[in-house]
Amino acid sequence: MSVIFERRSVRSFLPKPVEQEKIERLLKAGFEAPSANNRRPWEFIVVTDAGDRKAIAGMSPYAKMTADAAVAIIPCADLGEGKASGEEDIWWVQDLSAATENILLQIVEEGLGGVWLGWHPVKSRVKAFSEHFGLPGHIIPFSIIALGYPAKPSVLVNRFDPAKVHYGAYGKKSR
Ligand SMILES: Cc1cc2nc3c(=O)[nH]c(=O)nc-3n(C[C@H](O)[C@H](O)[C@H](O)COP(=O)(O)O)c2cc1C
Repeated sequence: MSVIFERRSVRSFLPKPVEQEKIERLLKAGFEAPSANNRRPWEFIVVTDAGDRKAIAGMSPYAKMTADAAVAIIPCADLGEGKASGEEDIWWVQDLSAATENILLQIVEEGLGGVWLGWHPVKSRVKAFSEHFGLPGHIIPFSIIALGYPAKPSVLVNRFDPAKVHYGAYGKKSR
């Protein structure tokens, strides 16, 4: 079965570190994401320090599990000038979303669990993270992926919904 069908958000973790080689494969998965104009405007911050994870947990009411996650990976966008032809990069949110999802899927492949925590475009979260980690202004923390060994197995359900599928024309239910 594809890991796509096994992925569920995991928010409770065993107190067990994640091996460095697994972290590196997660990062490689992020770097393999599709990217508009192949700009690949991403940078990845890896956080394992307990104090830093606790700090992140306090930056959003929905990020508390980060304190107990072994690792947090933060895909960031590099919006620095001169990255490409000088034109504005209008696709970076999609690029960073693709990188985030790639990492979430590789997390399943590695026998780990993780959750995507929304960061950009919530200004207070971006500001708090950027200040804590001393990010330059052109580096935007896009999402936080809290991950580790899952404390319990995920419950899987089939979410396929034929009512939302349209063949050839909106509302047409068969081919
Ligand atoms: C953009 C985005 C932001 C999210 N932010 C949070 C968050 O702040 N905290 C959290 O616990 N889950 C967050 N999630 C996870 C969703 O709650 C989760 O994907 C959704 O409930 C579906 O469940 P599943 O991931 O198990 O399929 C976020 C997901 C996305 C795509």
